[in-house]
Amino acid sequence: MAIRLPSAWKDELLARTDIVSVVSGYVTLKKDGRRYWGLCPFHNEKTPSFSVNADLNMYYCFGCKATGDAIRFVMEMERAPFMDAVKILADRAHMTLPELQEDPDYERRRSQRERLLNANREAARFYHDTLWKPEGKAVLDYLHDRGLTDGVIRRFGLGASGDRWDGLTAYLTEKGYSQEELSLAGLTVLKNGNAFDMFRSRAMFPIIDQYNHVLGFGGRALQKDLKPKYMNTTDTPVFNKRKGVYAINLIRKSRDLKRVILVEGYMDVVTISQAGVTGAVATLGTALTNEQARLLKRYAPEVFLCYDGDEAGQHAIERGLDILEAEGVPCRVLYLPDGLDPDEYIRKNGVEAFEAIRPMRPAAYRMERLKLQFDLTTQDGKTEYAKQCASLLRRVKDPVDLENYLQGLSLQTGFTKEVLLAQIGAQTQTAGKDVSAPAFSPLRDKPAGVRQPRRPDGYKTEQTLLALLATGRLSEGTVKETDFISPSLRQIAERLMAGETPDSIVSDEDLTDDVRQDAGEAFSLVTGADMENAAEVAGDCLRKIRIRQLEQEMDKLKESMRKLESDEKKMQMLTEIQELSKQLGQLKQQGR
Ligand code: UTP
Ligand code: MN
Repeated sequence: MAIRLPSAWKDELLARTDIVSVVSGYVTLKKDGRRYWGLCPFHNEKTPSFSVNADLNMYYCFGCKATGDAIRFVMEMERAPFMDAVKILADRAHMTLPELQEDPDYERRRSQRERLLNANREAARFYHDTLWKPEGKAVLDYLHDRGLTDGVIRRFGLGASGDRWDGLTAYLTEKGYSQEELSLAGLTVLKNGNAFDMFRSRAMFPIIDQYNHVLGFGGRALQKDLKPKYMNTTDTPVFNKRKGVYAINLIRKSRDLKRVILVEGYMDVVTISQAGVTGAVATLGTALTNEQARLLKRYAPEVFLCYDGDEAGQHAIERGLDILEAEGVPCRVLYLPDGLDPDEYIRKNGVEAFEAIRPMRPAAYRMERLKLQFDLTTQDGKTEYAKQCASLLRRVKDPVDLENYLQGLSLQTGFTKEVLLAQIGAQTQTAGKDVSAPAFSPLRDKPAGVRQPRRPDGYKTEQTLLALLATGRLSEGTVKETDFISPSLRQIAERLMAGETPDSIVSDEDLTDDVRQDAGEAFSLVTGADMENAAEVAGDCLRKIRIRQLEQEMDKLKESMRKLESDEKKMQMLTEIQELSKQLGQLKQQGR
């Protein structure tokens, strides 16, 4: 992790963050003793094995072993990078990020942002409510005419701006927002001292981000010839059309999404969703940007580009592929024929036909596009086409894919595969080394395989001891790291004794997942009764551990005694064994 927060600041953030209430935002929790239980959000299950420990500020799932602190939980749930998760929690805790504490303007901007987001949310509600009133009838009819059901209209929170000059402006002014704020939010236009609504007589598409903030709107004119067809919120302190993605709030909710389908239009997204296909999103009236590509990468292992079937759309696909590939996002193309857009295609051919479209790999798609530029009935055309394809194919790393492309190209151009390969040149020598960046979860590929390791005898005892150590209720010196035989538990014990907190251990990026999970499991095993009698229970664990250690020592001595030649040495060893056996007897006696 590149970013390191001052640890005191991070500790304060975690101390001020109630992990139970953070988790409760996503999972229904039930209290049982000192722990809270719910259905794990990270794997499918019917009975709860996901536990939250308020004492230790951490969570652990006994099913899939997911574990961590509040920051890690938000990272996993929002599929967000570390700093984004920190920002979300800092907002909740009303804490200012350390690098921003110096900035006197920060607090003003933060509260302004909050007010603009609230104004947007009120506006979205206003537009949506208007849809069902007489002044929204024209828009509702329009949406129905386009085949939308009330269900999908509600899912996307679609709305209507009426034809009054200042319907929304009056409503929000009444709610206490100033005209300046409304203009800053892009909801109101100020002109010659008058304030009137930015959007009028349009079907309203609220643009909502992954945290459910309403950032802005797209508004579609009801008549085809009205310009502009779509009007979007201009960039504001909370809205940046190059960063946002339409419907990201909905794909965020679909876990284990196999692919995102990136389309051009808001209406395409809505239609695809209504047809029962998940994962459709759109950019906000601009070409795909690097920021958007990185955002999409968090939500699915692959992105399908499905732009309009016209020339503009196809050109945009090539640019989109460039961006996605540059960001290391695995991608393919869903090609729509006859210049149709996804909305038109599904209405015309049905959703089954849409789902049956075979996604094309980028190289295959680019070769198809190249082919249009050359006359393959001439030798010159074939030669130039072969050369350009060869330079495309340099980027294909998978030898089997390459073979397929070469076969096709050889058939089309008449050059042998060997010649084409020579044309591709030395750069493909690196084939096999996959340079594409890892996709999907920034933390852990899902589903997490449930590791069921064989645990050595006595492991359970060590776990209990470790858990007691983690509660901080044992007096110093009670436990030594040599009390732990399991290497991972010993490593965790060392860290605890060095003063690290349990929650920081379970979310430490520098530890392997195995060690973190072992820690999470051990910390989560301790019960209320154990806590009350921590010293006593620990004493019992230590005694058991000591017994095991003595038994092992004795076995070793017996083994080496058998190999000894001299009777004198044998006698010596026997005395040692008897001594150990006496100690062992005493320890066992104590347990009764
Ligand atoms: P299209 O013109 O392809 O619209 O614009 P569409 O999605 O097919 O719309 P319908 O089906 O006629 O309602 C695609 C996207 O480009 C942006 C919008 O984001 C739109 O969804 N756009 C288009 C604008 O921002 N302004 C415009 O005037 C037109
Ligand atoms: Mn359309």
